[in-house]
Amino acid sequence: VATSWSSSGLDLHLDLVGGRSLADAIRHAVRDGRLAAGTRLPSTRALAADLGVARGTVTSAYAELAAEGYLRSRQGAPTVVAALPGGRAPAPTARPTTPPAEHRWNLMPGRPDLSLFPKTAWLAATRRALTAATATDLGYGDPQGHPALRQALADHLGRVRGVVATPDRIVVCGGHSQALRLLATVLHTAGARTIAFEDPSMPEFRLVTAAAGLTAIGIPVDEHGIQVDALAALPAPPAAVVVTPAHQFPLGSTLHPHRRAALVELARATDTLVIEDDYDGEFRFDRQPVGAVQALAPDQVVYAGTASKTLAPGLRLSWLVLPDRLVDPVCRARRFTDRHTGVIEQLTLAELLRAGDHDQHVRRCRTHYRRRRDRVVDLLTELGGELAPAGIAAGLHVVVLLGDSRTEADVLARAERHSLQLEGLGPTWLSDTSPTGAPRPGGLVIGYAAPPEHAFGLALRALTEVLTGRETDTR
Ligand SMILES: Cc1ncc(COP(=O)(O)O)c(C=O)c1O
Repeated sequence: VATSWSSSGLDLHLDLVGGRSLADAIRHAVRDGRLAAGTRLPSTRALAADLGVARGTVTSAYAELAAEGYLRSRQGAPTVVAALPGGRAPAPTARPTTPPAEHRWNLMPGRPDLSLFPKTAWLAATRRALTAATATDLGYGDPQGHPALRQALADHLGRVRGVVATPDRIVVCGGHSQALRLLATVLHTAGARTIAFEDPSMPEFRLVTAAAGLTAIGIPVDEHGIQVDALAALPAPPAAVVVTPAHQFPLGSTLHPHRRAALVELARATDTLVIEDDYDGEFRFDRQPVGAVQALAPDQVVYAGTASKTLAPGLRLSWLVLPDRLVDPVCRARRFTDRHTGVIEQLTLAELLRAGDHDQHVRRCRTHYRRRRDRVVDLLTELGGELAPAGIAAGLHVVVLLGDSRTEADVLARAERHSLQLEGLGPTWLSDTSPTGAPRPGGLVIGYAAPPEHAFGLALRALTEVLTGRETDTR
């Protein structure tokens, strides 16, 4: 019988199968790593009471195991599991783990400066939110998201991004990846088999929709955003098209007003759902942010936003503003995943938005990132014409296309040697050649928001060394 016992606050699970002795059960648990070195065991009195055996039985089992080196007991101190000299047998299911390479410097795109997270405001908002929360708020909640957050988001998105949003059309999700997965599942259930993405685009999201059974089709992008003509020229319209109109990921262009109108018109005519990924629309540096495309056709466009850039990706908080007909199917799909996002985080974000702390934080970040953007642009300009950065008007990254003198693989290998985490353009392409048959250019997607302030200058120095080919190893 495998039994879990709770002894004096210490839970211990022992496998007492087939009349196995207590000593043997503990020995096995130590050998196969289920009881790690240093684990405190229950007192002999408590374990005896839990197992319904004489205390002497436990005392002699502990003594036997201490003599064999499995346990360590000292007068007046709890008995603990000893470190086995030869190590333990690996647990049968244990897989060798390769720790991810630690880089000294990080210029990965899509990462905000996490040292800016507004801890004080978040803590204060949590306190206010929990104080106001009812006991019922802490039960299983609405799969659509807590009404307080949906209301706060509707107000915020209308005001800041020009989204046509009412609380009943918002679904709170656990990050854009989950939101996209839910949409893809709903589309697939309704019979869809294809989905279009900008080419280039974020590779992970294409895997997300593929996992839901949808085949990705790439649509070319230029300095005016997605080429709507190419979308219109497909032999059959896809069920949906995922776009990043405010700041194309990764190339950084803004969707031209004519293209915005054409996209919406085409979507209506072919009943294609537009999924507008507004991942960093809050960060526009040169002028007022362009509003959401969703406002042009709230019944044909899904607006998708996230807290991953404005606050932190670790929060796993995002939102969809849906055409009416999709609200119930998406909520049904959500119910069968994780039910809903944690209520305390939802209420805290609602409070942060309501109190104006969120706006204040975003404004502060915008100034910070703009300054960094300027430094990266200055640096790349100094380094020479070939490295002219693109997509600089917004967001948290710039792109440089590499000319003939450097290949992407070489630059990335050099970055590794300099312990600089950097992303190439390569994985973002869906096709190896452009529509005219030209090979894709190598490039770098430089995320200047990622490092904390104290490391930013050094990360740029590492980048300079990588780009100029100097081989001073900074590891
Ligand atoms: C293009 C794009 N969209 C959306 C996101 C946000 O994804 P999530 O909300 O899952 O963190 C990211 C994050 O890197 C991104 O690069």
